[in-house]
Amino acid sequence: MKSRIWITSLFASILIIGGCSSSKSEPDDNMDHSNMSHDDMKMEEADSQTENGHMSHTNPLALTDSIGENELALPALLEPEKEKGNVYNIVAQKGTVEFFDGYQTETLGYNGSFLGPVIRVNRGDTVKFRTVNDLSEETTFHWHGLDLPGEGDGGPHKSIKPGKSEIVEFTVDQQAATLWFHPHPEGKTSEQFYKGLAGLIYVEDENSKNLGLPSDYGVNDIPLIFQDRQFDGGKQLNYQRFKNDDGTIGDTLLVNGTLNPKLTISKEKVRLRLLNGSNARNYTFKLNTGDSFEQIATDGGFLNTPETMNEITLTPGERAEVIVDFSKYDATSNVALINEDNTILLPFKINEVGTETSDMPQNMNDFAVTDEERSLPVSKKLELFGMGNMVTINGKRFDMNRIDFTQKQSETEIWEIYNKPDMMGGMVHPFHIHGTQFKIVSIDGKEPPVNEQGWKDTIAIEPGETFKLAIKFNNKGIYMYHCHILEHEDNGMMGQVLVE
Ligand code: C2O
Ligand code: CU
Ligand code: CU
Repeated sequence: MKSRIWITSLFASILIIGGCSSSKSEPDDNMDHSNMSHDDMKMEEADSQTENGHMSHTNPLALTDSIGENELALPALLEPEKEKGNVYNIVAQKGTVEFFDGYQTETLGYNGSFLGPVIRVNRGDTVKFRTVNDLSEETTFHWHGLDLPGEGDGGPHKSIKPGKSEIVEFTVDQQAATLWFHPHPEGKTSEQFYKGLAGLIYVEDENSKNLGLPSDYGVNDIPLIFQDRQFDGGKQLNYQRFKNDDGTIGDTLLVNGTLNPKLTISKEKVRLRLLNGSNARNYTFKLNTGDSFEQIATDGGFLNTPETMNEITLTPGERAEVIVDFSKYDATSNVALINEDNTILLPFKINEVGTETSDMPQNMNDFAVTDEERSLPVSKKLELFGMGNMVTINGKRFDMNRIDFTQKQSETEIWEIYNKPDMMGGMVHPFHIHGTQFKIVSIDGKEPPVNEQGWKDTIAIEPGETFKLAIKFNNKGIYMYHCHILEHEDNGMMGQVLVE
């Protein structure tokens, strides 16, 4: 059974209750935790590698291999409390993590010290997210990829003061997908994110439950959040020290917040839900064995059929779900997920139990760009341009008080997005739109690759490329669109569309 695509009911409702003050705010502004006394050597090393302006995407600071010392952490699953009306409690808080022996790294997290739980919601359910700001500064809670009214979207307008909480209530009305959430305060997104604020949202529906895909959470259905970080000599996530206007990258990989991770799995098909949760680094995932895998989902839903891939590139904010068949390996196999440059991202340890090989479903969705959509004229044009900290859309930087575009609710429009190269060639901008899942109609006039013929909310636009997107908002409100290199976002490569 497939879910219908454009026919979505529009009874989603929303209610924001402000200020149920539930927790004290500690007056504490020591966001800079550098421990200068240990640092200097390490620092200089790192600085010299991140110094020159445009290096970050053509020749990024190398990532260190995972030596597979630690079993991958699994985020807790946050299921609704049914009796209480599907309430989910989500608290942004401070914490510490011992990533390195003997060092307490100061971090931020949701319902814990670093990253957050997987919020699992079901299509059709009316849910309440109770969000609490237990930080010592303002934050917002943004639901990346969720189709919900602008009021609840958690963009920069929806700042929550320390010690305050809010309730966002809405009806889940979109296809099964792997979405995520993170803060979005104006100009402060990068730093809060860098220190650990992010989590996943799983949307499930009848289709996802009936396809027979691996879906045993933490066993054969694994969330993987990839983040590169730079630690200073005192092992702190000293954002102010390492921030780079071209996008902050680091030499240290964390997967689900685990340093040097490995993943133990059985001899079976395993579903990996990949999120590029980095501020700026791109990843091209492949297997060190050279074996292929099947991509089954894009940002916002299943592909129509599984697509065999040898590698898959994700820019910041993008997700993909893939199925890796581990039944062909055994305990002696050396299998790992690696990056384009062969850096080991995640080694696998194979358990010799279970040899069950389920079949792959063949019909997973009925995604299509319709003739009607193809015949629509372009009604919005956006030009992305960035050089250093001067990053703009249509020549303008973000202004909270300026509405850049308006669009009618439930009406499809064609947006044309062009990435204008600079003198040095330019860089890839991961372009993201809030509050909707859209379709790629064309890239430079051509069909997108098969694995991008599915619902998307973030797209990698290469310098000189032009994308045409078919975009429809099912709800009303103000929604952001921006580059998902978070330093670009914070520096103003963002605009807003009012849907009415
Ligand atoms: Cu991940 Cu404005 O979004
Ligand atoms: Cu978003
Ligand atoms: Cu950008």
